[in-house]
Amino acid sequence: MATERTFSILKPDATKRNITGAVNAVIEKAGLRIVGQRRIQMSKAQAEKFYEVHSARPFFGELVEFMTSGPVVVQVLEGDNAIAKYREVMGATNPAQAAEGTIRKTFSESVGENTVHGSDSAENAKLEIAQFFQDSDIAA
Ligand code: CMP
Repeated sequence: MATERTFSILKPDATKRNITGAVNAVIEKAGLRIVGQRRIQMSKAQAEKFYEVHSARPFFGELVEFMTSGPVVVQVLEGDNAIAKYREVMGATNPAQAAEGTIRKTFSESVGENTVHGSDSAENAKLEIAQFFQDSDIAA
């Protein structure tokens, strides 16, 4: 299996509830390594750019408002098959449909406030990492 990198965000509902360490423990237990990590306040422009693909969706305004409502932790995760593995560890977008033991099943309260984001493809992982990290910020 190939070593990959994926992009992760611990969303404002995670920082607000002070559960970023608990979420990171699940990530590490799954065999993913946190090789880059920074706590930031996302600007409206950054959130709009990041979620541009969803700009026509009815929940876009709400999504941008939520993602800028408090600090987030942006991360680069590394491991075998990291992109698919992290999506498995996160669980379904809607926590009501997420499998037992996943981050969203354990911690999330709604589809909007679903605690974590993870890239959905290798191409998007690269673009998303590049929006928030420079190569020199990532310690492999
Ligand atoms: P994420 O994986 O970060 O990518 C897009 C986000 O849009 C998704 O997680 C959800 O948090 C959010 N989202 C998806 N569907 C809805 C919805 N019906 N209402 C509010 N937010 C949503």
